[in-house]
Amino acid sequence: MSPSHSHRDFLTIPDFTKDELIGLFALTDRMKRGVHVRRPLVGKILAMIFLKSSTRTRVAFEVGTNQLGGHAIFLSDRDIQIGRGEPIADTARVLSRMVDGIMIRTYTHSDVDELARHADVPVINGLTDLQHPCQVLADIVTVRQHLGTHEGKKIAWIGDGNNMANSWLDAAYRLGFDLALACPEGYDPDAALLARAQKHANVTLHRDPREAIAGAHVVNTDVWASMGQEEEQAARAKAFAGFTVDAKLMSAASPDAIFLHCLPAHRGEEVSADVIDGPQSVVWDEAENRLHIQKAILAVVMGGERLG
Ligand code: CP
Ligand code: NVA
Repeated sequence: MSPSHSHRDFLTIPDFTKDELIGLFALTDRMKRGVHVRRPLVGKILAMIFLKSSTRTRVAFEVGTNQLGGHAIFLSDRDIQIGRGEPIADTARVLSRMVDGIMIRTYTHSDVDELARHADVPVINGLTDLQHPCQVLADIVTVRQHLGTHEGKKIAWIGDGNNMANSWLDAAYRLGFDLALACPEGYDPDAALLARAQKHANVTLHRDPREAIAGAHVVNTDVWASMGQEEEQAARAKAFAGFTVDAKLMSAASPDAIFLHCLPAHRGEEVSADVIDGPQSVVWDEAENRLHIQKAILAVVMGGERLG
C-alpha cells in the first residue's frame, strides 16, 4: 500500500460535520437493512490495537471489516511491542507501511492523537479515557431507530462524567439536541467539552438525577468505575449513591422514554435489573448498532465511501 497524507481519521464526533453525520446515519441504515452491497474494503487490512478489554468494539470492527470484504488483525498489548514500551509514533510508522487503517482502544487520549499524527493511514478511536465516539454514534442510531429522530429530543445522562458523557457532549455540540447530565460533585465531564457544547445546545449539568431525567426521551447511564479505575470502585459506589437508574427514577422520564447503556452493565449498581431487562430498555439494539455504524465509519474512512 502507498502512504497517503490525505486520509481522514475518526478520533472524536466533531471530526464529522453535522451534514456528514446525517449522511453517516443514512449509510448506517443502509448497512443495517442489507441494501449496501458494495464491498469497499476488498484487499484492505485493519490493525486493531486493544490496550483494554472489549467485546462489542472488537467484534463489531472485526465482523464489519470482514463483511465489507477486508481483513482485521487483533493486536493486544500482550502481543505487540507497545506493551514493552515501543513508542506509539514508531508503531504508527511501521503499521502504516503494512496496513490500510488502524483502530485503537487505549487509556490516554493524547496517545491516540499521537498515533494519528504519525500514521499515514486512517486512525479510528475505539475508546480512550476521554472519549467513546463510536458508541455514542451507535446510541444516536438507536435513538433514531426507536424515536424516529434525535432532533428535539431530551437526552439524560445519569452517573459518571466519563468518556461516554464527553462523547455525548460532543454529539450535542454537533447535532444540537437537549442534553441534561446528572453527576455527583467531583465526577463532572470534561470542562472544555462541556463549555463548548453549552455554547451550541441546551446542555445542563445537575447534581440531582431527578432534575436531569425529568421529561427525558432517552435515559442513559454507564458503569461508575470505568476500565482503569477498578481500585476506585468502593469510593465511587459511595459517591454515586442515589444515582442508580431504577424504576422509581425512570418514572420521572417521559412515559415512552427508552433506556440506553453501552454495556457491560453492573445490575444493582448504576442500573436496576428491572430497568435494563425491562420493556423500556433497548440495549441489545444499541449493541447491534455498533456493527452497523462502525461499518459505515470503516467504509468512509478506509473505503472511500462518500457521504450525502
Ligand atoms: N460498549 C463497548 O464499547 O463495549 P466493549 O467494551 O465490549 O467493546
Ligand atoms: N466508561 C466505560 C465504557 C465501557 C465501554 C469504560 O471506559 O470502561
